Amino acid sequence: MKLDTASLVELEQKYILQTYKRYPIVVDYAQGTRIFDKNGNEYLDFLAGIAVNLLGHSHPKIIQAVENQIRRYMHLSNYFYQDVQIELAEKILTLSGYSKIFYTNSGAEANEGALKIVRRWGNQRNKKTVVAFTGGFHGRTYGALSLMDKPHYKELMGPFLDGIKILTFNDVEALKSTLSHDTAGVFIEFIQGEGGISEAQEQFVQELWELKKKYNFLIVADEVQSGIFRTGKLFAFQHWDVSPDIVTIAKGFGGGLPLGGILVKSELEKIFEKGMHGTTFGGNAVSCAAGIANLNVIYPDLLDHINSISDYLDGILQRIKQEFPEKVLEVRGRGLMRGLVLSFEAIRLVEKLIDERIITNATAKNVLRLVPPLIISKDDVDLFYIGLKNALQKV
Ligand SMILES: Cc1ncc(COP(=O)(O)O)c(C=O)c1O
Repeated sequence: MKLDTASLVELEQKYILQTYKRYPIVVDYAQGTRIFDKNGNEYLDFLAGIAVNLLGHSHPKIIQAVENQIRRYMHLSNYFYQDVQIELAEKILTLSGYSKIFYTNSGAEANEGALKIVRRWGNQRNKKTVVAFTGGFHGRTYGALSLMDKPHYKELMGPFLDGIKILTFNDVEALKSTLSHDTAGVFIEFIQGEGGISEAQEQFVQELWELKKKYNFLIVADEVQSGIFRTGKLFAFQHWDVSPDIVTIAKGFGGGLPLGGILVKSELEKIFEKGMHGTTFGGNAVSCAAGIANLNVIYPDLLDHINSISDYLDGILQRIKQEFPEKVLEVRGRGLMRGLVLSFEAIRLVEKLIDERIITNATAKNVLRLVPPLIISKDDVDLFYIGLKNALQKV
């Protein structure tokens, strides 16, 4: 569309349901760690499509894989055996140690499928309750929303699913008093993304696994945001040395294209019979081709970089906290999934950072979320530091 920026903003409001608070940026193109707008401005991208573009924008290896696949075919349906689906499955299962994958289009769809597995497994054993936690975010579909305590996302949209209990995150006593033989499964983000980059505490995780031993239920790790090396390990839960029964992934898995998955352990690989679950686009060939290229670039060659740049970013964030003790209260998160807890609404800082040509976002009201591409350089982090300092001075 060859329209000026103002006309495009106006037409967006005319044609698209107004559910998103957009940044005042009309994008032209994006490359590496940068986004360019139609007015010729260049932005440093510390959002990465909300924790999606692990290799930044337009990575040549992903473009090449997508181009090759588009020439072969784009979509056939899951009636066919497809080499790209099988190759990516082999890669992610070998890396993760899980037994089987079901492909989805999104994180919400992965969690819906995981919830069906938990329910079916529970119903086979007369276990009826599913547990999730405050601050969790699992998606915008009915099952996922039923696992969440976010009133604004659910207002006048009920009824939601029955048989779900939402407990206070990190409340060990709530776990002890609620989990029982009736518990079919527990959904947990080990590092809550939308919930403000909040981590599960060690004792909470230990107690969860003690109770699992006692009552026998499934644990589902939602790794949609934290997974695929964002925190320096394949999955965030690996920082706790535990092994959930089911893992849901999406976001970074498709290298920028829509792709998610449900990973299950061998005990669950026969949970569905043929025809019981399915999707038209899940496991789309082009997304899988991008996913293969994505993992090939990251593992193992990028790991050292991810860990060293994470340490470097951490140093910068700690420095910022010392320099602005009244404004920056806490530095949270691991790897390249970081949050700054502020003494004021984070959206104000996000706006000032846009003036500095840096893209971030706000979660949990007062947390500035940083989920940059895994390929960010020291120069990018240095630029971020200068911009953040300027923005904090002005806010
Ligand atoms: C932890 C987590 N789970 C699930 C989702 C939902 O994923 P999607 O938007 O792809 O449906 C998100 C999205 O932000 C997420 O952060």
